[in-house]
Amino acid sequence: MYRSHTCGELRLTDENKIVKLSGWVQKIRNLGGMTFIDLRDRYGITQLVLDVESRKDLSTQARQLGREYVIQVTGKVAERSNKNSKMGTGDIEILVDEFVLLNPSDLPPFTIEDETDGGDELRMKYRYLDLRRNPVRRNLELRHKLGFEVRNYLNKQNFIETETPVLIKSTPEGARDFIVPSRMNPGEFYALPQSPQVFKQLLMVAGFDRYFQIVKCFRDEDLRADRQPEFTQIDCEMAFVEQQDILSTFEGMTKHLFKTIKNVDFDFDFIQMTFDEALKNYGSDKPDLRFDMKFVEMKEMLGQTDFVVFDDAEYVGGICAEGCAGYTRKDLDKLTDFVRKPQIGAQGLVYVKCNTDGTFKSSVDKFFDEAKLAKWAEAFGAKPGDLLLVLAGPTDKTRKALCELRLEMGNRMGYRDKNKFAPLWVVDFPLLEWDEKTNRFHAMHHPFTSPKKEDLALLETEPGKVRANAYDLVINGVEIGGGSIRIHNDELQHKMFQLLGFTEQDAESQFGFLMNAFKYGAPPHGGVAFGFDRLTSLFAGIDSIRDVIAFPKNNAGRDVMIDSPSPVAEDQLDELNIELKKAK
Ligand code: AMO
Repeated sequence: MYRSHTCGELRLTDENKIVKLSGWVQKIRNLGGMTFIDLRDRYGITQLVLDVESRKDLSTQARQLGREYVIQVTGKVAERSNKNSKMGTGDIEILVDEFVLLNPSDLPPFTIEDETDGGDELRMKYRYLDLRRNPVRRNLELRHKLGFEVRNYLNKQNFIETETPVLIKSTPEGARDFIVPSRMNPGEFYALPQSPQVFKQLLMVAGFDRYFQIVKCFRDEDLRADRQPEFTQIDCEMAFVEQQDILSTFEGMTKHLFKTIKNVDFDFDFIQMTFDEALKNYGSDKPDLRFDMKFVEMKEMLGQTDFVVFDDAEYVGGICAEGCAGYTRKDLDKLTDFVRKPQIGAQGLVYVKCNTDGTFKSSVDKFFDEAKLAKWAEAFGAKPGDLLLVLAGPTDKTRKALCELRLEMGNRMGYRDKNKFAPLWVVDFPLLEWDEKTNRFHAMHHPFTSPKKEDLALLETEPGKVRANAYDLVINGVEIGGGSIRIHNDELQHKMFQLLGFTEQDAESQFGFLMNAFKYGAPPHGGVAFGFDRLTSLFAGIDSIRDVIAFPKNNAGRDVMIDSPSPVAEDQLDELNIELKKAK
């Protein structure tokens, strides 16, 4: 037996028990004839005391020890004289009688402490050591709990967890596929699933009624803090449902997770905001509703002015930052630099300070007198002490920039508290989006998303105006999940492929199996997929999903620990019938 207890378990009530513990050496201190060791495992830390003065054997052994050595000790639980109230085991220590070195350790390349001295790349290279650190391990424990509660909830709602294959054919989620060559079928390739989309629809045709799967998905796209090339979805599908049935079920799941894991009660229905409203008011289809600061559109109110920047602009709009009229010249210059960054792309920033004495000071005093600025303040609902920030330019681009400015002000003003949660559904997404590069429509969600019944007629005349039965769950400005009601009718699905520019042959060769299945009594169905990594990082209060994945890839898509991707041997390529082109 390696241990009778874990390192996080013993309390004063265990005093005088003879116990056996195993774990890693966190810290060693020598103090006046005694050696103190902090012994660590997943569950906590227990202090060991070795009387090295009278026990020469223990002294010899203790002298060989270093950080991260794995040891086993037997000893008696004793009350500690200087207790540590910060530790669960802080009232006791173990008076060691026997000591076994189970395994030595090289000196770790960084300290295994909550605050480590290891840089990002180094910690990724030695991820198994990084995972020994409390904050990282806690994230993965949280992930486990979330997965457990997801299964708990969905199981109670009659969902069946079903695995779907990983070696498949291209799926239409809009990213690049990862492909895998087939040795047995020379010249042919599998694609890794971007999602189990088509399989879950086939499970509905199969009569499974309610499916879910916590599943790996693979997308070869540019990486960001909230994107990994392989990530996990809580993927779900339901038959005989309308949009509201799905929203209710998964709003229920979200509430269950917040209640059981964070003890947060959402005793209200989530807001359902249309895509158009979200863009108009917040410049984004994933608005952060932890704070208001809605956009105010000004073009109509302004009419013709002498200020060409406004007159020439398709869109003029702004936000009101409460209580920020005290911003200095320097603060405002910084904000101007912020909106001018290439990734934000505004030309400049107009500000109006609504001074506490009722006067106004603006960057456009030359063009707008006090009376005009007072009218602006009224339109913004601004009070003395507030600051108006205004951008002008092409509508889409300016709204996006204003969205970034709103978020930046939210950060500065402390509105984006990680312990506050603001969920909403964004609904009524456009079915299609026009792609300038390829000069054709793309499915905004995916090609199986059904148009809204009331917009069906527009499919022929103005396809760009058709809205979809598609929805996203957004929390704190993050797209946590997305889904749609599907097309279950073979004729409409063909029409959709046509609109998306698929030839009959393309549609047949890529999705013939699905079209065929639809001929055998496909029920009306729809579903949703939550990004499990994003959900976990939201719960953990961290921005990067890397920190909630045991073995993530870096921004170049590399696993620096196992050094992958890596070249393969010539004979492996021969077996696959593959000849490599010279890298460009
Ligand atoms: P969608 O493409 O919106 O929908 O993906 C669903 C959710 O998955 C998460 N997600 C990601 N997380 C981390 N890294 C990525 N690269 C990544 N890409 C997506 C997001 C997103 O909301 N089959 C459909 C779902 C459906 O229609 O039912 C789908 O995959 O949180």
